[in-house]
Amino acid sequence: YENPLPPVPDRGEAPDYAFVFDIDGVLVHGSNPLPRAKETLEYLHDNHIPYMLLTNGGGYSEAAQVQQLNQRLRMRAFISEQQFVQSHTPFKEHASSPHLRTVLVLGGVKENVKEVAKGYGFRNVVIPADFLKSFQGVSPFTDKSHYSQFGTKLPKNLPKVDAVLVFNDPRDWALDIQVVVDVLLSEGGQVGTRRRVEDVIRDGHLPVYFSNPDLWWANEYQHARLGQRAFRAALEGVWRSITGGQELKATTIGKPHQPTYEFAEDTLTRWRARKLKQLGAFMDHPELKRVYMVGDNPASDIAGANSYKSPRGTDWVSVLVRTGVFREGDSDGGAKAVVDNVEEAVRWAIEEER
Ligand code: G3P
Ligand code: MG
Repeated sequence: YENPLPPVPDRGEAPDYAFVFDIDGVLVHGSNPLPRAKETLEYLHDNHIPYMLLTNGGGYSEAAQVQQLNQRLRMRAFISEQQFVQSHTPFKEHASSPHLRTVLVLGGVKENVKEVAKGYGFRNVVIPADFLKSFQGVSPFTDKSHYSQFGTKLPKNLPKVDAVLVFNDPRDWALDIQVVVDVLLSEGGQVGTRRRVEDVIRDGHLPVYFSNPDLWWANEYQHARLGQRAFRAALEGVWRSITGGQELKATTIGKPHQPTYEFAEDTLTRWRARKLKQLGAFMDHPELKRVYMVGDNPASDIAGANSYKSPRGTDWVSVLVRTGVFREGDSDGGAKAVVDNVEEAVRWAIEEER
């Protein structure tokens, strides 16, 4: 290979910088690894430069996502769950909240998003496929033969939902929007009940949490694909029509939002300490000072890194690659560098460190 990455500047102690990589559009296109992604991560591993992955993707458990990535990238140094944060990972911290005893969770049914939520510790989890299984005609145009194989019948005493959590992009928007609207129009989340719209407008609706604000994301198709933000826009549009113009009240985490970057920096700091301790040689490793955030989406990866206020005072440096959502001529979101691919992103950062 004619242009290998350069030797890392040797300061006789652990590097005080690290990398955060976005996944879709930086390391992979769908199930296809991007050129030089494997070699670039192996270079960091071989040079004891810590890194983590931060994706707005989701729908599977962290363990399943990491296993899938290791299979796709076929690296000799496996990626660990401890260096991986996906869109809904921060939801885990709220699973035991008394305000979230029963949650309606949206996301992939084949990937069994219900098990992912239960794995986080949510006690009672229902999914739209359960409603399809339980009620005749609840979503008139949904393919029952496909979806009802994933659902489980709701209990006789129907659940009282406390919140709606969107873990990943819904697969059947008609079914999911219908079930979410039914729950938001219900009496306090009691499945099967219905309020008058004027009461809904006066009293409001259950909390709704989205895990990812991406309008677009990059996979193997030649143009970017609609993301979770598009589903939110569809639900907001339906809600506006039902309520005569009332805005849906919802909270969204995920890149570019501050809480997701704080969660990621906590994860990176723990991971780095563990790795450098394993190395032994760097027992008194220096504090983390700089984080190079490599992403393909100016609106999420780059905007998030540029606006992030680190409680530790670390400086996040945004590096935009041309292998994903960003296209020449688009705004680069104020990226500190715009490079061809993930290997060039690391090359640029290593030169910055020289
Ligand atoms: O659902 C995946 C998409 O929103 C973007 O994923 O890895 O580019 O943050 P990623
Ligand atoms: Mg991306």
